[in-house]
Amino acid sequence: MPTKYTSDMKNKFRLLLEYISLIAICLVFPSGFTFAQPNLPSVFPDRIILNPTPDPLTSLAITWRTDTTVHVGFCEWQLATDTKIKAEESNSVKSNTKTVEYQFKDEPKIIVNQHSLILSGLLPSTEYIYRVGFDANWSEWFQFRTPGKKNEEFSFVYFGDPQVGLKTEWPRLIRKAYQQCPDCRFMLYAGDIINRAERDIEWQEWFDAGSFIFSTIPQIMTPGNHDYSGLTLDHHWNSQFAQPTNGPSGLKGTCFFVDYPKLRLISIDSAAGSELEDENGYPLQEQKTWLDSVLYTNKKEWVIVTTHLPFYSTKENRDNPKLRKHFQPLLEKYKVDIVLTGHDHSYGRGRASDNINNKHTVVYVVSVSGSKFYLLGTKPWMEQSAGNLELFQTITIKENILMYKSYTASGLLFDEFMLKRNGNGEKKFTDFKAQK
Ligand SMILES: [Fe+2]
Repeated sequence: MPTKYTSDMKNKFRLLLEYISLIAICLVFPSGFTFAQPNLPSVFPDRIILNPTPDPLTSLAITWRTDTTVHVGFCEWQLATDTKIKAEESNSVKSNTKTVEYQFKDEPKIIVNQHSLILSGLLPSTEYIYRVGFDANWSEWFQFRTPGKKNEEFSFVYFGDPQVGLKTEWPRLIRKAYQQCPDCRFMLYAGDIINRAERDIEWQEWFDAGSFIFSTIPQIMTPGNHDYSGLTLDHHWNSQFAQPTNGPSGLKGTCFFVDYPKLRLISIDSAAGSELEDENGYPLQEQKTWLDSVLYTNKKEWVIVTTHLPFYSTKENRDNPKLRKHFQPLLEKYKVDIVLTGHDHSYGRGRASDNINNKHTVVYVVSVSGSKFYLLGTKPWMEQSAGNLELFQTITIKENILMYKSYTASGLLFDEFMLKRNGNGEKKFTDFKAQK
């Protein structure tokens, strides 16, 4: 008499099949369950990123990570060659290596060895190649160029907040920026690099987006409020970056300056101390004193300040009067040229001052590069503005002329102005966008 299969038997049979299939998958793919976690380190160097030192003409910082089985790292470097690379003819520098644990809420803890070192004794305006690694596990050879001397034209790229869309939309923007300005000497970020501080998977997405660009062109970051967890700077920041430490003692790697030919670039950490809410707070007072000193001693023709919070906001019902109260008099006294900011997730550019007797007007810019947008306000300070637009900017300095251009993700020129200094140091502002 044939067996009658009840629904209960069928369910048991189906469960048995599923169980057998699962065991088979585990046997064939023993690490199958790690496929969904792309931010795990390995013995191979990854997240290789360049940062400038205070003297980028002759030195350069390199940072990368591996898993914790790799206890040391090296950088092999030499002048760029057009023939087969002979690794044995390289200079070799040993890294400083430390183990770091990254934890975001209940996501898996990521434990890595961060390797960092500085190449020194470089020549200005020179092409070099390098690779990082240890034993048999090396990166490919990367290529970089040091900035030139005083009269050489140079450019850099400026991004407002990446923050959102790091895996989906931001990659095409940074790649277009690289296409637009492949010889830029650095790329600058006005804070909020990722959305949730400490979240390693977001840093993975940002590094994936930048890929070899980060290993080829030095990157400079000022932190935003999303790069802090409460009052604590994301632990990734000073482990995976090696930014200058010439700022106030409590703000190493977030408040600093870098000198390029004809340009002093200054980062103010406006996310420290709870976004400057406490105007008598330590970070604000320290930075104010420090900014006064680095502007006083500056000998460069052009000065650009970057900070996350806008001096003038593009968003309705947002304003940062304390920032202006404490820092704007210094910017105007020392004739700072441009302030590059983010935070408001829209675009605004204009010349403004809270001082009606002011003779020197700073150009203020708010920009956004990621896909998080706020509604654009109607603020009178803005001479040009836009909402719902991912943008990157190029700034080129050639002798007494500074050219500023803002581009969309598809490469359309959106905004453009020029600053030109005459022999007396007087400055002429030309708004090419307004002329169109
Ligand atoms: Fe922000």
